[in-house]
Amino acid sequence: MIRSVITGCAGHLPERVLTNAELADMVDTSDEWITARTGIKQRHIAAEGETTSDLAVGAARKAMDAAGVDASDIDLIIVATATPDHTFPATATTVQSRLGVRKGAAFDIQAVCSGFIYGLATADNFLKAGQFRRALLIGAETFSRILDWDDRTTCVLFGDGAGAVVLEGQQGAGGNGDRGVLTTHIHADGRHHDLLYVDGGPSKTQTVGHLRMSGKEVFRHAVTNLSAVIHEALDATGMQPGDIDWVVPHQANKRILDGTARKFGLDAAKVVVTVDQHGNTSAASVPLALSAAVADGRIRRGDVLLLEAMGGGFTWGSALVRW
Ligand code: COA
Repeated sequence: MIRSVITGCAGHLPERVLTNAELADMVDTSDEWITARTGIKQRHIAAEGETTSDLAVGAARKAMDAAGVDASDIDLIIVATATPDHTFPATATTVQSRLGVRKGAAFDIQAVCSGFIYGLATADNFLKAGQFRRALLIGAETFSRILDWDDRTTCVLFGDGAGAVVLEGQQGAGGNGDRGVLTTHIHADGRHHDLLYVDGGPSKTQTVGHLRMSGKEVFRHAVTNLSAVIHEALDATGMQPGDIDWVVPHQANKRILDGTARKFGLDAAKVVVTVDQHGNTSAASVPLALSAAVADGRIRRGDVLLLEAMGGGFTWGSALVRW
């Protein structure tokens, strides 16, 4: 069978760093509160005029270099984002044009913080079906543009950034020993719209709107849904928690990461954490964390990775990947 093997990955962050101390000058908060409740110490914020596609192109170029491919090798581009440059066309088409890719398909996926996992499942199925051969999957966000900077309950949590992977269809034996994506699982439950949403949009308000969240409720659902979808990935492959070398989770809150790892008896040292440096970068957070752990040599060829995420909708998902 065909397996989708990740042949390159990279992240790209805006230069500007916003610290907790600076936020404490803007709203009624403190470094102590943010650190204790979330683990976040700082986040990156896009410069004026710096767009989601700018960050996406930055990550994509580096991921393509890492994979040793050029524009003529890519035939599918997926950008997972909830903060597109424009209502339409898809940010993926802007990325396609700027990278000089001239064939295949390009489209956006909107599953908020689960966007990268949704994109991975989508790309994997296209590659396995043989419809495309090399996919560029990017998670890219400028959440700073949809935050209410007067709302301390949300503005301290998010940041901007992008991460990208190149996926290539390669022949595998069909077992857990194969390199590449071993299994993906995605879910949605639209009944929870009001717990995490943006109060604007082209059809409803003709405005961009601001992010609104019931943090405590989201936290509760996140722990339950993530546990269920991790079990699902393990059941589908017959793997055990002990087979996982690295957990590469969506980075929303250090407490959610710790709680989930504890539930599966996983050593906290096996969980890749970037939330302290990046905050929650929504669809960009999983590929940013992946890139960080690949770049510093933690993730090595043959390692089994568990990717998982949960976001607005609600949407959630997991994947097992052999590096
Ligand atoms: N600084 C200081 N105090 C703050 C604050 C801030 N930035 N934000 C909220 N508070 C206050 C609240 O007003 C509240 O005060 P009160 O007790 O006087 O009413 C108190 O801190 C506790 O707020 P609460 O919302 O109960 O805190 P919490 O422990 O639930 O932590 C979150 C809040 C948002 C960090 C937490 O709920 C969370 O991480 N939720 C999940 C969010 C998430 O993962 N979202 C993304 C999913 S993709």
